[in-house]
Amino acid sequence: MAIKFVCSKPGKKSVKIIRRDDRVMSPSFTREYSFVFKRARGCYIWDVDGRRHLDFAAGIAVMGIGHSNPAVGRAVKDQLKMGTHVGFSDFYAELPVEFVEYAMKFLPKHLDTAFLSNSGTESVEAAYKMARWHTKKKWAVAFKPSFHGRTMGSLSMTNSRPVQRDRFGPFLPVKHSPYPYCYRCPFEKGDHEHHKCTNNYLSELRKTMLECRGDLAAIFFEPISGEGGYIVPPKDFVRGMRELCDEHGVLLCDDEVQSGCYRTGKFLAIENFGVKPDVVSLSKAIGGGVPLGLTVANRKTMDWVPGSHANTFGGNLLACAAGMATLKFMKEKRLGENAQKIGGYIMKRLERTKRDYDIVGDVRGMGLMIGLEIVSDKASKRHGESERSNILCKASEKGLLLLPAGRSAIRICPPLVINKSQAKTGIDILEDAISESC
Ligand SMILES: Cc1ncc(COP(=O)(O)O)c(C=O)c1O
Repeated sequence: MAIKFVCSKPGKKSVKIIRRDDRVMSPSFTREYSFVFKRARGCYIWDVDGRRHLDFAAGIAVMGIGHSNPAVGRAVKDQLKMGTHVGFSDFYAELPVEFVEYAMKFLPKHLDTAFLSNSGTESVEAAYKMARWHTKKKWAVAFKPSFHGRTMGSLSMTNSRPVQRDRFGPFLPVKHSPYPYCYRCPFEKGDHEHHKCTNNYLSELRKTMLECRGDLAAIFFEPISGEGGYIVPPKDFVRGMRELCDEHGVLLCDDEVQSGCYRTGKFLAIENFGVKPDVVSLSKAIGGGVPLGLTVANRKTMDWVPGSHANTFGGNLLACAAGMATLKFMKEKRLGENAQKIGGYIMKRLERTKRDYDIVGDVRGMGLMIGLEIVSDKASKRHGESERSNILCKASEKGLLLLPAGRSAIRICPPLVINKSQAKTGIDILEDAISESC
């Protein structure tokens, strides 16, 4: 069968590799582009045919510290000479301890105990199992849309696209409540009223919690819905949710896999809402491109006993060396401040774009986690799925890599090391692509 290329047909070398990939790789991936990686540095990424792209996707919000970061490269190389792996669930080693001690300096003080793993889904899975162990309760509440990973525990919570769940049930006991999505608030007719909207979402959440009849262990929440469409919830909602958790003795599990590590300006996105979580799941950016997951809670909450949860690769020495160098680099280079500064510039530019183009329905975000919702026209707010595909393709042809999110949003999540002139170039390209897609 002929291969369907995403956007225009790529160069000769890319085509050859895509054909080989098509023969041996699982067909379950949704490739957004026919882009074949060769090398990357900072905010740029090259394909095997020598085309350079400005990267506003950062390997799905992973490369906060920039591609091929020399400090992380050095740390991994040095550790390579000492040993790569010890089997941390059976033996001790200083480096994972040092990494966790250092990571805790970035986190709220009460989060003083950690579990190490290799990915976002494992980081959430650990939070989920721990919540059930600690509370001895069965149910969890998550949101729709939400994305927490694809192993069966986190998939039971994930609910952003039907294909992610189709045929995989039965799921674990999880109930879903609507994620506060003010641009498309289902409760309001006519003019949008922020306060009413928040209260309606909170009362839906309370109802969902009560349906668990006192057997609810935890709420799983993304402080900005990532895969679901880069949706920013109202502050009052997040605070109200914390109060509901306290009222009902339920753990608030904060999924910072995508939004954490300074992506929104603060180390944790939930800090922007002035809310303290009980459990935090981190991954993606914390390993600087090396697989690493970190789940943290208070010792009283992480009270499971030896043998109740463990893994082979958690505490892997290369991953911990990379994580340590990543966090040091983020701190030294003040990447949170840069995310706020450059994010502010991008938001201003996109607000203007929204005024100028009828297909840009909403612009939202924090720091360098910015979403742009594409619609067929502002009045109808109909999802502009085909317009979005056109924009992504045109931008890629002009040398800018972007990712979709939700039904018709575009996510902007460049490396946090991006400077103003790179941001300007990227947004210029995006605007051109929008104007050609109207
Ligand atoms: C918020 C969130 N949680 C969990 C995950 C799962 O992470 P992974 O793909 O590393 O398993 C993702 C991945 O995109 C995510 O965005």
